[in-house]
Amino acid sequence: MTPSGSIGRRLTVLLACVAALLSVLSWSMVSSFARQAAERTQDNILAASATTIAEALRSEGDEIRLELPYAAFSMLGAISQDRVFYHVDVDGQTLTGYSDLAPDLETPAPGQISFGTVTYRQATLRMVSITRVVLAGADPVPVTVSVAQTRDGISAIATDLSRTAALLCVAFFVLAVVLSAFVARSSLNQLTTVAEAVARRGPSDLRPLRDRAPTELAPLIQSLNRFIDRLGTSLRRSEEFITEAAHRVRTPLATVRAQAEVALHSARGDEEKGRLRRMIRAIDESSRSAGQLLDHATVAFRADSLAHDAIDLAVIARTVTSALEPTAEMKDIAIELASETVIVRGDGVLLESALRNVVDNAIKYSSPDTTVRIGVSADGAQAQVRVVDEGPGLGAGPFDRFTERFHRGDNAEGVVGSGLGLTIANEVLVAHGGHIVLAQNEEGRGACVTLCLPLASGLA
Ligand SMILES: Nc1ncnc2c1ncn2[C@@H]1O[C@H](COP(=O)(O)OP(=O)(O)OP(=O)(O)O)[C@@H](O)[C@H]1O
Ligand SMILES: [Mg+2]
Repeated sequence: MTPSGSIGRRLTVLLACVAALLSVLSWSMVSSFARQAAERTQDNILAASATTIAEALRSEGDEIRLELPYAAFSMLGAISQDRVFYHVDVDGQTLTGYSDLAPDLETPAPGQISFGTVTYRQATLRMVSITRVVLAGADPVPVTVSVAQTRDGISAIATDLSRTAALLCVAFFVLAVVLSAFVARSSLNQLTTVAEAVARRGPSDLRPLRDRAPTELAPLIQSLNRFIDRLGTSLRRSEEFITEAAHRVRTPLATVRAQAEVALHSARGDEEKGRLRRMIRAIDESSRSAGQLLDHATVAFRADSLAHDAIDLAVIARTVTSALEPTAEMKDIAIELASETVIVRGDGVLLESALRNVVDNAIKYSSPDTTVRIGVSADGAQAQVRVVDEGPGLGAGPFDRFTERFHRGDNAEGVVGSGLGLTIANEVLVAHGGHIVLAQNEEGRGACVTLCLPLASGLA
């Protein structure tokens, strides 16, 4: 299955996008607040400066005099090194300062203060004007004091603050991404736990999954449990079907064979006898094929959900030996069994079927009056069952093709068989994590077939 993206990554990206949006928003808000704050500070200082100058106005006789207070300009220098311009206007006449400083700007009413942004000498200035009525002799005269300052310093402060805010926002964004990844992973942990619980299971473990899960996962767990339940039922049905089918095919064939044997005994002519012998042989072939095909199906089915039982290979070897002894006796073949307790993990039915096929071959392909030797032993971490016969052997290699389905050797001519025995044995061993070794008997003539399996750990 190719995964179609990752929920964790998608969640992280989504949360990171939200974090990025919030970062940009907060950066623009902080920047604009910083600029506003800096501008308000400049306005306040400009107003204080203009007020200080206005308060220094005094009248001497009919004249209005002004001695510019040093503090009025020093306070402006405190905020930045910007250029400062001023203008004191007495009833339309310049008392002091730059007479051309924003002449168009409306003068505020007495006691009022006005702010404005003007362009003067190619620079943008923030200007504040304040009007005060001063008595010149007996006449009240309106005096307007204007103080202006360039905004370079303020802009620099605002830019500086904005840069700091940007750095903080980037740091916030990075932290948010890390936290998002952490949050995404920990929220998906429950899902991983369920996936691991399913993955950890042995193939034959069809118990329902635990019901305690977060609400969001409950439907998934329920569906999985329903699926496991259906799978279990279907597996049980298949097993029953295979057993039933084997029984139904073999029983009538055995009856037909028995009838054919009876007919053979009472047959007179050679031609009739020959025909009945060919019939019996065909029945044997069909019966063997049906049996092997069903055994093969059983292997495929049981290997899918392999049991994990502790199996003593010596017991399996004894069972197979006693089951095949009558067949061997018919050919005067002796079976010698040398076994020690060797425990492996797996399916006893399958292991028995594998060994039965190998021993069956040894008896089937050997000449009468020979011996078949079976040895069960443990070597390092490996269990071995060796079946050695004194027959014609497997011929020249390679022997791999003998484990292919329906492949029969040249020596199989005239011998009942379907070419599935070694396929079954090989598939059983592979399902158990083992392998089959086909070789010539090194100590004499005949074949040597070894079933190799991993030993059960922790068991003697
Ligand atoms: N012990 C043996 N000695 C000689 N030849 C063997 C031996 N075991 C297997 N073979 C060869 O390997 C071939 C494949 O064996 P396999 O058991 O798969 O099929 P089969 O015995 O022909 O049919 P069946 O499915 O009935 O067992 C045989 O046809 C035979 O030629
Ligand atoms: Mg065989």
